[in-house]
Amino acid sequence: MAGELKHLAIIMDGNGRWAVSRSLERTEGHKAGAEAAIRVAERAMERGISFLTLYCFSTENWKRPMGEVSFLMGLFSSQFRKRIPEIRDRGFRILHLGNRNGLPESVLETIDQAVSETAANTGLTIQLAINYGGLDEIARATEKAMQNGERSFTYPVLSRYLDNPGVPAPDFIARSGGEKRLSGFLTLQSSYAEIGFYDKLWPDWDGYMIDEIISDFQSRQRRFGGLG
Ligand code: IPE
Ligand code: IPE
Ligand code: MG
Repeated sequence: MAGELKHLAIIMDGNGRWAVSRSLERTEGHKAGAEAAIRVAERAMERGISFLTLYCFSTENWKRPMGEVSFLMGLFSSQFRKRIPEIRDRGFRILHLGNRNGLPESVLETIDQAVSETAANTGLTIQLAINYGGLDEIARATEKAMQNGERSFTYPVLSRYLDNPGVPAPDFIARSGGEKRLSGFLTLQSSYAEIGFYDKLWPDWDGYMIDEIISDFQSRQRRFGGLG
């Protein structure tokens, strides 16, 4: 009914609450969250999804305590780097989504290495949204479009200047952890996305959640303003 779920985008929320409910440091929740991301990506690929976007760190997350921010930057650099061979062998193709300005050099190097080492993979394209904000992406796209001499800023024009112009808009945006908001995720691209909010905290997610999302998506009737 809803067509094909080609691009699934996920707001991976609830790591901190997961850890606190187990009397652990919030950072333990982020560690467990990274494992959940691998489980979910594996199932997404098995189920034939082509694009998976994972919201890892927003342009607003810099407001968190320094210790938590540096732990997360460590996850995106040294911890992530160790897993590049595994990620490559699983067939994932990695792309970065977000603003490079402000990210530590070690994170940028790791992202670049992951992107180049997985560039030939055709299994599942994973956009890692790190230092990502939808308003920031729109502002940067507009600036690039102006520098390129564009005089009109319609969606078809602007979308050519987004961070990854080859990635289609998401068909479904899912959020774990029960909050019902988008928190700056894919602001431009979300205009006709189906949306689903799930109470389960991110570190508890596994492949079955992908199956649940696919059946939720299939139960939706997408009309795009028409009568269906
Ligand atoms: C999401 O989990 C991960 C990031 C935003 C980096 P949170 O850290 O926001 O977890 P909660 O929402 O506080 O439980
Ligand atoms: C959104 O989660 C960002 C990521 C999951 C990376 P937040 O926990 O930062 O969002 P708010 O503060 O609840 O809106
Ligand atoms: Mg949160």
